[in-house]
Amino acid sequence: MQLTALLVLFSALKLACATSANHDATSCTLVASGGDDAPQFLAAMKSCSTVIIPATTTLNISTRLNMTGLDNKTLNLAGTVRFNPNIPYWTGNAFSFPFQTQITFWILGGTNIIVTGGGTLDGAGQAWYDAFASNSTLLRPIILTIFQAQNVLVKNIRMINSPEWFNLVNEGKNVTYDNITINAVSTSSHFISNTDNFAYLADLWINGWDIYRSDNVVIKNSVINNGDDCVSFKPNSTNILVSNLNCNGSHGISVGSLGQFAGMFDIVENVTSSNVKMSNAQNGARIKAWAGANVGSGIVKNITFNNFVVNNVDSPLTVDSCYMTNATACTQFPSNTLIQDVFFNNITGTSSGSLVASVSCSPDGRCSDINVNDFEVKAGSGTAKYTCQNVQILGDAASQFPTCTVT
Ligand SMILES: *[C@@H]1O[C@H](CO)[C@@H](O)[C@H](O)[C@H]1NC(C)=O
Ligand SMILES: *[C@@H]1O[C@H](CO)[C@@H](O)[C@H](O)[C@H]1NC(C)=O
Ligand SMILES: *[C@@H]1O[C@H](CO)[C@@H](O)[C@H](O)[C@H]1NC(C)=O
Ligand SMILES: *[C@@H]1O[C@H](CO)[C@@H](O)[C@H](O)[C@H]1NC(C)=O
Ligand SMILES: *[C@@H]1O[C@H](CO)[C@@H](O)[C@H](O)[C@H]1NC(C)=O
Ligand SMILES: *[C@@H]1O[C@H](CO)[C@@H](O)[C@H](O)[C@H]1NC(C)=O
Ligand SMILES: *[C@@H]1O[C@H](CO)[C@@H](O)[C@H](O)[C@H]1NC(C)=O
Ligand SMILES: *[C@@H]1O[C@H](CO)[C@@H](O)[C@H](O)[C@H]1NC(C)=O
Ligand SMILES: *[C@@H]1O[C@H](CO)[C@@H](O)[C@H](O)[C@H]1NC(C)=O
Ligand SMILES: *[C@@H]1O[C@H](CO)[C@@H](O)[C@H](O)[C@H]1NC(C)=O
Ligand SMILES: *[C@@H]1O[C@H](CO)[C@@H](O)[C@H](O)[C@H]1NC(C)=O
Ligand SMILES: *[C@@H]1O[C@H](CO)[C@@H](O)[C@H](O)[C@H]1NC(C)=O
Repeated sequence: MQLTALLVLFSALKLACATSANHDATSCTLVASGGDDAPQFLAAMKSCSTVIIPATTTLNISTRLNMTGLDNKTLNLAGTVRFNPNIPYWTGNAFSFPFQTQITFWILGGTNIIVTGGGTLDGAGQAWYDAFASNSTLLRPIILTIFQAQNVLVKNIRMINSPEWFNLVNEGKNVTYDNITINAVSTSSHFISNTDNFAYLADLWINGWDIYRSDNVVIKNSVINNGDDCVSFKPNSTNILVSNLNCNGSHGISVGSLGQFAGMFDIVENVTSSNVKMSNAQNGARIKAWAGANVGSGIVKNITFNNFVVNNVDSPLTVDSCYMTNATACTQFPSNTLIQDVFFNNITGTSSGSLVASVSCSPDGRCSDINVNDFEVKAGSGTAKYTCQNVQILGDAASQFPTCTVT
């Protein structure tokens, strides 16, 4: 009797997933097909309001996921979505973005979308990391791109081993990530120098989040173990809140890089990052903008970093508006990106060496209203070193800086 009931239920669910009619409040449960699960996943997200991937299920995604234009959907991911590392397929067929030549497995867009359930997105990165060792121009996909979306919540999800960036928010509005655990680890012998796994994960540009042309984004209560930026605010990121993150092995919370591309105007405005623990990282709180001939322009305005605790971080506080330029070229071609109204409040902990803060601005007043308050970072070794150029530092920690050099 029970078995019959279950079978009836099962075929009803299958039917609900398979049909495209009458689907207003359907809930569909997916089971692995044994082959490529992308078609059934796409069909279910299109026709069911709730899609369930049970804890015991691993979907094998072998073809790209175009899930755009959705409306009122919940993806309840308790199991795993794994991206089959068929490298020739993805390099030829993944969705591509001209910005920094990125590709992605999955675009998820529309309005009112929730992704939750305690499950895992697995980028199966190892094969990609190994392939990159013999092809340094290999394009590697982002796991999840929130694409042209409004009102999205991604909550209680684990993400592992992305081939490159883990998350991109591209043209999103009101997108929240809450309780995300990100972990990238490689077990291969490639790229390991001095047994530091994270140095080569940085060479692989494995970022936690990148935000691009998006407004009103929240990233909170998350743990990130990666190699490149923990969170990166790329061109046209506005009204962003980052809070309660634990970042390990990264390049920090980074505004930029901005003003890279000639003819483009980049805005990053109203960004607050609070309560961040940053360990074993290249940077803590960072802003970087390009200088040099033939670069772009932009404005970075109203950026606040509050309550950072650093541990073994090379440069806990960084502003660099001569990014990717030597001193001579930066003086000749200062950055066209203005940096204004920046607050570094309550950064504590220990750096990796002697450097604790570096504010390096292009000449001719490119940086203004740069404030450093309650800055108490101890040098990991030697005497704490503060450096600055072409800027007047304000705030109660200004006196910890030397007279800034002018170039
Ligand atoms: C995933 O699906 C592809 C395409 O059908 C297949 O070649 C591959 O073996 C599958 N992988 C797993 C782990 O099931
Ligand atoms: C995704 O699918 C939509 C609807 O079918 C289509 O309009 C759009 O061009 C596709 N996007 C990409 C990037 O292929
Ligand atoms: C989505 O939900 C909103 C609010 O509940 C409702 O107004 C709208 O009609 C729904 N859209 C669809 C396509 O079901
Ligand atoms: C390296 O990867 C790129 C882009 O993914 C591809 O076009 C190129 O053919 C690959 N090179 C080799 C030697 O495989
Ligand atoms: C923002 O998105 C969330 C879903 O993540 C939704 O609950 C909320 O109402 C949205 N806010 C606005 C102002 O639309
Ligand atoms: C965070 O998500 C994990 C699953 O990734 C879950 O086990 C845990 O209970 C969640 N924590 C909270 C506070 O909801
Ligand atoms: C943090 O990163 C360091 C390397 O930078 C690594 O050795 C360590 O295992 C990481 N910690 C965790 C909890 O993953
Ligand atoms: C950023 O927004 C401004 C104002 O809307 C626009 O002029 C500029 O082209 C945008 N830049 C990018 C990189 O999208
Ligand atoms: C930044 O926030 C201020 C104050 O809320 C607001 O007036 C301004 O429009 C915001 N800027 C952007 C680019 O959204
Ligand atoms: C600065 O940005 C924060 C959000 O990060 C916002 O709450 C505040 O109103 C903005 N202030 C100004 C003066 O725009
Ligand atoms: C400074 O940051 C530390 C660590 O996050 C926090 O415990 C402390 O309350 C903060 N102090 C103030 C005045 O906000
Ligand atoms: C500085 O950069 C410029 C432009 O890339 C280059 O021509 C010049 O040789 C560099 N100078 C030094 C000292 O490296």
